[in-house]
Amino acid sequence: MNNKTIILTGDRPTGPLHLGHFVGSLRQRVALQRDYQQFVLVADLQGLTDNGSNPQKIRNNIPEVLADYLAAGIDPSLTTICLQSALPALAELTALYMNIVTVARVERNPTVKNEIMQKGFARSLPVGFLVYPISQAADITAFKANVVPVGDDQLPMLEQTNEIVHKMNSLLPTPVLQHCKAMLSETSRLPGIDGNAKMSKSLGNTLLLSVSEEAIHRAVSAMYTDPHHLKVTDPGQIDGNIVFTYLDAFHPNKAKIAEMKANYQQGGLGDKTCKNELEVCLQELIAPMRERRATYIQDKGMLMALLQKGSERAHDVTQKTVREVKCGLGLPVF
Ligand code: TRP
Repeated sequence: MNNKTIILTGDRPTGPLHLGHFVGSLRQRVALQRDYQQFVLVADLQGLTDNGSNPQKIRNNIPEVLADYLAAGIDPSLTTICLQSALPALAELTALYMNIVTVARVERNPTVKNEIMQKGFARSLPVGFLVYPISQAADITAFKANVVPVGDDQLPMLEQTNEIVHKMNSLLPTPVLQHCKAMLSETSRLPGIDGNAKMSKSLGNTLLLSVSEEAIHRAVSAMYTDPHHLKVTDPGQIDGNIVFTYLDAFHPNKAKIAEMKANYQQGGLGDKTCKNELEVCLQELIAPMRERRATYIQDKGMLMALLQKGSERAHDVTQKTVREVKCGLGLPVF
């Protein structure tokens, strides 16, 4: 990668962000923003695809997500933060791409398939929901992003995006769109505090960036370990032991965790000690974010102003792409 590398990621503003977002993507965005050209998209239109009758929920969560970004360390002077619905080029590209993707192809997208099942849509599936991967392809390509830091559930979206890039470019006299690569984080999927495979708001097993000290304590104390590790001297299992999964995801000292794991497996390390180590590390990570977030969320005017400014910058970039695509297709561009 070099400084020409363009990075785009986004989040649906359906609620405040949690530690799953932090390890899956926020942390990487903070690390990448100095060296690359980075855009972060507040995907309100995508949020509406399964909240069509509840736009207020999406509206109210826009500043929440912005406060999370700033609290996590995304710096608006280094990263362009913008709003999907404020960028008409994204809607235009979506409309153009819809004609080169089949219904069979969108129905085959495993992430969308899963979500449709989980949400129990059946025949009340909103059309917009089924085609949101096409709109996400528009998001990514409008910015000519080459790298997309995401969790592994988003890989099917990138695969579908690259198919669209290939197909659309083949229709143009010279290629306009860029292929994109996923950048997976070390922990691309954080389990929930209840041990469920995924931390997710709908499962009620999240820790928000604003979580209180007390709630962190409760969550860590209740965490599932190895049910056969009854005495400190018993050998313990690391696999499926959420405390170690979290230590791997959050503890800065990897050597120390490796040593703890060896002791635990041999027999001689208690769950309580591991949980204490985890709690201290989570408290240290979250305290400053919680504090910053509390300040930012009080100034919604400031948050929306920075979103407007970023959207104006993103408008120019995305408008240029859609013009190039339209010209290439031979459509009149006035
Ligand atoms: N689908 C992503 C999610 O649910 C959000 C998103 C929208 C996105 N547009 C994007 C991610 C573009 C990466 C790039 O988390």
